[in-house]
Amino acid sequence: MLICVPGVLTKDDVADFRRVMDVAEWEDGRSTAGAQSALVKKNEQLPPDSEVARTLGNRIISALTANARFISAAIPLQIFPPLFNRYVASDGHHFGVHVDNAVRGDRLTGLRIRTDLSVTLFLSEPEDYDGGELVVEDNYGSHEIKLPAGDLVLYPASSLHLVTPVTRGARVASFFWLQSMVRDDHARSLIFDLDTAIQNLVERLGRDDPETVKLTGIYHNLIRYWAEV
Ligand code: NI
Repeated sequence: MLICVPGVLTKDDVADFRRVMDVAEWEDGRSTAGAQSALVKKNEQLPPDSEVARTLGNRIISALTANARFISAAIPLQIFPPLFNRYVASDGHHFGVHVDNAVRGDRLTGLRIRTDLSVTLFLSEPEDYDGGELVVEDNYGSHEIKLPAGDLVLYPASSLHLVTPVTRGARVASFFWLQSMVRDDHARSLIFDLDTAIQNLVERLGRDDPETVKLTGIYHNLIRYWAEV
């Protein structure tokens, strides 16, 4: 399931990120690609271990942990340090179809995760570039995603996906992976749908409504049943 989370970063945060990123040193994006994806990847990245990437990445993680919709959708166990990429029209940047590596290790922290979910957090406004759609394929077909700056999309890391060529301007984004407490995408989707319905009921009936309390219990028991921590 694809899930969009709006307003993870405020527009002020995004402007602040861009001020720092636009004057930073960028490197060839293939430095973090696997053997297959290196063949189809043409973009730039902030060096993953650089001070800039780590500082901005930590700000994203703080914003994520305070975001109820993100937590509900991802049920994160470990979040990989965010990376940052840039697709520039004049350099013909794009990223052909690929699947992300199943396991990711971080050199600096020693963190190693199974990549259950991939995340793209947009840091350019859609009107500032043409092309650069994230295209994710799932059982329901192929989905094109291009979100306002500050919004993110979560999608199963097992999906085939690509970024179409940028033909005007530049597309700047953060991307990263996470290991969820609930490994199975279908189970995680059920829990998310249940949680969303409960939150709507809470608004209508209050948190102490007896049926809301029962459903909240079922929500926690499903997590207890499926979670690996
Ligand atoms: Ni990818």
